[in-house]
Amino acid sequence: MVHATAFLLVLSLAVVAPVLSTRKCVLTGRWTNDLGSNMTIMAVNAKGEFLGSYHTAVTVTGNDIKVSPLQGSQHRTNENSQATFGFTVNWSFSDSVTVFTGQCFVDETGKEVLKTMWLLRSHVDSIKDDWTATRVGVNVFTRLRSKKE
Ligand SMILES: *[C@@H]1O[C@H](CO)[C@@H](O)[C@H](O)[C@H]1NC(C)=O
Ligand SMILES: *[C@@H]1O[C@H](CO)[C@@H](O)[C@H](O)[C@H]1NC(C)=O
Repeated sequence: MVHATAFLLVLSLAVVAPVLSTRKCVLTGRWTNDLGSNMTIMAVNAKGEFLGSYHTAVTVTGNDIKVSPLQGSQHRTNENSQATFGFTVNWSFSDSVTVFTGQCFVDETGKEVLKTMWLLRSHVDSIKDDWTATRVGVNVFTRLRSKKE
């Protein structure tokens, strides 16, 4: 009986595991991150280019936050279809630019997750202040599913 259960468990893992590992991570859609910022990525074209919009929840400026455009590239998908990508956010409410790089993963529960790092370049008035102009960080994005859209 114990052996039969163990055998069934092994069998079911063998059936389920390949399904999870072959599931594709797709960039297109709505995403939210650990800071509560949201972004929408539109269709990725055949060259891997995409456009989208970024609604940040946080800002280092005192300005009112506005939805800002983003544009990026996805590398051709590898054999696991967990593509690398990068995009630039052109902030529409400040004199700053952020670049993100990341990879689109399917985690062990089958959930898509974007693991990213970013550099935020803020405008400074003089070359003497250049040293203070760049911030670096990490963001993790998951799919945004909301009832009201
Ligand atoms: C992100 O989306 C969620 C769900 O729709 C919403 O509650 C939240 O206010 C949004 N955040 C921003 C910064 O727009
Ligand atoms: C970048 O943002 C500025 C300010 O909102 C805008 O004038 C410009 O057209 C934007 N460029 C792109 C490529 O989105």
